[in-house]
Amino acid sequence: MMVSQGNVVVTGATRGIGRATVDAILERGGKVVAIARNERLLAALQASAPNRIRALTADLEDLDRISELARLANDAFGSVDGLVNCAGIARYEPVGAIGLDAIEAQLRVNLAAPLLLSQALAVHLRAPGGSIVNVSSTLSERAAPQTVVYAATKAALNAVTKGLALELAPAGVRVNAVLPGGVETDMLRTPRLLPGETLGPGEIEARVASQLADLTALHPLGRLGTPEEVAAVIISVLDQTWQTGSLVTIDGGLSLA
Ligand SMILES: NC(=O)c1ccc[n+]([C@@H]2O[C@H](COP(=O)([O-])OP(=O)(O)OC[C@H]3O[C@@H](n4cnc5c(N)ncnc54)[C@H](OP(=O)(O)O)[C@@H]3O)[C@@H](O)[C@H]2O)c1
Repeated sequence: MMVSQGNVVVTGATRGIGRATVDAILERGGKVVAIARNERLLAALQASAPNRIRALTADLEDLDRISELARLANDAFGSVDGLVNCAGIARYEPVGAIGLDAIEAQLRVNLAAPLLLSQALAVHLRAPGGSIVNVSSTLSERAAPQTVVYAATKAALNAVTKGLALELAPAGVRVNAVLPGGVETDMLRTPRLLPGETLGPGEIEARVASQLADLTALHPLGRLGTPEEVAAVIISVLDQTWQTGSLVTIDGGLSLA
């Protein structure tokens, strides 16, 4: 049985790439333990496939809850085959305006939570063949303005991926990362503001449209990716039986430019 046809824990399951990953697992006949903060979206997700989705409401900034979450996730269907660490946040701040709050929040959600959840779930992952996919970013390897901290957390997540892969290999648990380029999700629809700058409602839309156009132009294939295209790679990597410690890029050629 493929991991994606088993019981898979997905963080950031309610929107964007995580949501597309949930849909792809359901299409393959798998079951999902869905983790995110927004209870309304989680309830709607669970209602879409009541027997095959269990929702756990959690703020992954709260690292003290992670071992309890891992236990609840394992209990949801009685066993776990896979984990997709997809929840992530980006705080766009230019150098000169980087604050400790933003550093801490991104370190918690993008780095510490996936590491601690992987560690706590690794002991439950059904042998042989448990699999973990961390959703990283091409920004971990390619600098872009206003993303110093985000990029650093994702680069550290790449290192975590390789370290976990090595240490968990004897237990048959594979750990890989997927590095997307620009993908059409809420994450890219946040206006990037200069320190002290405020925008009116019409201006916000225009700013987001121009940000998206600039980002699109950086991709040699001439468009941003869709959450479904990235989810297809996440599922493929989740299911590869002889792949571990890999950083798999899916970016419309962004890294070439
Ligand atoms: N979009 C891109 O261009 C892009 C590119 C490269 C990498 N990525 C990475 O891909 C992953 C998914 O991004 P996305 O674009 O799909 O983002 P998104 O549309 O903003 O969705 C983020 C998801 O994470 C959840 N989440 C955020 N903060 C959380 C917290 N503190 N605790 C629990 N859940 C939390 C959100 O649910 P709630 O709000 O309900 O908590 C939501 O389900 C992230 O790791 C991101 O860094 C995205």
